[in-house]
Amino acid sequence: MHDAGLEQAHYRSVVADHAFVDVRSESFAEDPYPVLAAMRAQGRVHHHQPSNQWFLLQFDDVGFGLADIRRNERTSRDPLNPFAMDGAGHTGPRRLIAPALSNQKMQVLRDRTQMIVDDALTAKAPGSLLNVVDEIGYLLPYRLMCLLLGVPELPDPTALRDVTFKSLALIDAFSGPEQIQHFVAAAQDLYRHLDEVVEWKRSHRGDDLVSTVLAAADEGTVMTHDHVVPYLHTLYLAGMHTTVNQISLSLLALMHNRSQWELLVEHPKLCDNAVEELLRFDPTAQYMRRTALEDYRFGDDVVPEGAAVVAWIASANRDPAKWGADADVLDITRADAPKHIAFGKGPHVCIGSWLARLELRVVIETLVTRFPRVELATDELTWTSGITAIRGPDELTLQLR
Ligand code: HEM
Repeated sequence: MHDAGLEQAHYRSVVADHAFVDVRSESFAEDPYPVLAAMRAQGRVHHHQPSNQWFLLQFDDVGFGLADIRRNERTSRDPLNPFAMDGAGHTGPRRLIAPALSNQKMQVLRDRTQMIVDDALTAKAPGSLLNVVDEIGYLLPYRLMCLLLGVPELPDPTALRDVTFKSLALIDAFSGPEQIQHFVAAAQDLYRHLDEVVEWKRSHRGDDLVSTVLAAADEGTVMTHDHVVPYLHTLYLAGMHTTVNQISLSLLALMHNRSQWELLVEHPKLCDNAVEELLRFDPTAQYMRRTALEDYRFGDDVVPEGAAVVAWIASANRDPAKWGADADVLDITRADAPKHIAFGKGPHVCIGSWLARLELRVVIETLVTRFPRVELATDELTWTSGITAIRGPDELTLQLR
């Protein structure tokens, strides 16, 4: 796809109504799909003028952007973080923990996951309200992550939750300088917390991810001690609010598409494929950023060297050229649903995808079995987080039945 001799190429930006789309508006957060569809229909590349970024929107192009365009090594705010690098500095450290997060390894966590979900629902009976975000969404990934990292749970993780969310927001492509400053401060708080965790872990080693990373740093071949906290920073926060929001979006999609929920109640065995289809239909990770370190041609369009690229996963997952005319329909029996790219593609593909799938599956299956007539307590949701990279409603309350 790349063509080196592009100096004379026709640098075209798609000028249309959507050139000035406000990606940070609440209406876009609530339903980005019509705008994404309109942009996708206009051409392969969309130059978003307000942010001066280049949007990739079609399924194949987004996959290419995620897998083949570099992350943002040149501009990284986090030069010691292996997950922010490309090449050997990334793959070596990544390989250290990938086997511990495989599908097979995650199945061993099934009972533990079920216990956490059951715990969260202990006091619930038909007629109760369930606040998905506060009562299940955050606690589930938090408790599993503590287990995997081999660190004790805090008695009250609320403050940590806020800091984690804001640190993750640093991946956002549309934040203003003030917001970024605020997020950087949160990231520093999380770094301090992780410094303490690592210090404690040095004398409490075990069969866990922090110990694995520390052992590699002791050895010094793949990474050094300077990399440890930045590494854990990404690992820790990448699986929290993504999971919270994916749980909310998935339950919301099932509530809004009642026939699909009823189908699942009737055939709980469809749950695995339903999880894939829910990840396709409404992926919380809306996009990922890349930096073009050279010119890239997409048909008649060129993304110039130095450009900031936004690879829109949410658009790729609804591209009719890939999924057919019913791309906007939730169909839990869709045969090729697992081909979605909700977890990205290529060297940086989500390392926690099997954990995330397990969490989603256990939450959905448990509600299907215990509360088959569950409904939305209210349709009036707010979408004000202001963070566009990871999308989800502020709260989601279900009426259990
Ligand atoms: C539904 C939940 C989740 C979603 C939608 C999600 C999505 C993604 C996506 C799209 C990427 C690719 C980033 C890129 O290409 O720039 C990614 C990477 C990553 N995810 Fe997840 N993720 C989820 C859960 C998790 C969990 C539970 C963990 C923790 C174990 C995790 C850890 C990571 C890490 C460490 C990376 C960076 C991988 C690398 O750069 O090599 N994620 N995730």
